[in-house]
Amino acid sequence: MADTAIELRVVAKDRPADGVVTLALARPNGGRLPDWAPGAHVDLVLPNGLTRQYSLCGDRWDARTYRVGVLREPAGRGGSAFVHDELAVGDAVGIGGPRNNFRLVPSERYLFVAGGIGITPLLPMVRQAEMLGADWRLLYGGRSRTSMAFLDELEPYGDRVTVVPQDEQGLLDLGTWLSGEDPDTKVYCCGPAPLLEAVEERCAGWRRGLLRTERFVARDNGAVRDEPFELELRRSGVTVAVSPGRSVLDAAGAAGANVLSSCRQGLCGTCETAVLDGVPDHRDSILDDDEREAGDCMFVCVSRSRSERLVLDL
Ligand code: FES
Repeated sequence: MADTAIELRVVAKDRPADGVVTLALARPNGGRLPDWAPGAHVDLVLPNGLTRQYSLCGDRWDARTYRVGVLREPAGRGGSAFVHDELAVGDAVGIGGPRNNFRLVPSERYLFVAGGIGITPLLPMVRQAEMLGADWRLLYGGRSRTSMAFLDELEPYGDRVTVVPQDEQGLLDLGTWLSGEDPDTKVYCCGPAPLLEAVEERCAGWRRGLLRTERFVARDNGAVRDEPFELELRRSGVTVAVSPGRSVLDAAGAAGANVLSSCRQGLCGTCETAVLDGVPDHRDSILDDDEREAGDCMFVCVSRSRSERLVLDL
């Protein structure tokens, strides 16, 4: 289960664009909330029991309010529909986190590329980059102007922001914006899978670390190695066999280890676990290439083992 240590109330609900609502969340007593940095997300535990992850898109210096933006997803599993149709001001929600798998690392220049609701983690980054005096640009695409949230909040940044509604101007011109690597420019991209894939393709030959992406839907990592392996939980002093159809998370839980989890899709980072020995088979959508190669941590809800034996710090 997600860590739901904090119970908050919905203190405002707005519709900044077609198909998008924002929720402002605060403690019932108005108290201070845990700090966060741009790129962070929270688990939102809804009154109907569903848990969903949303990027924090408010003011990181407002210590008493979180803001999240939620796109209605007609093909979704009910979380966004509940937020849009049922959740009301005054309702209680649980919050896990915040956690951050998409940190803004220091750089001279930034190019932020947002598609649709992918603007949510990038909005606080834009503010931070501006505050730090970095040279930054935002390329923001969406289906139509009315479907694109936060245009009013971006307006003061003038020509640092390029807004590209698809019905007026077509798709983002990635060929021009990502024409070549610049070691002083970090590219941050968040949006639907086709945009992420197009950006990753453009940056394929670039040196590592210049492109960072955040996914809302799990990456298709291909077939999982489906042989059984041995799992040692070093701190518990237990070794169990993990069969092909079972997750490391479930196997560890059945052996008595307490591992927090939330999305169970390799997206949120809740189940991060240190690897002491063995070679993880990373199936998450969080780690970058360097982090995968280091092999010292894994997300046990989806990742498995390339080696016959895997030893975890559990
Ligand atoms: S539970 Fe979300 S990454 Fe594992």
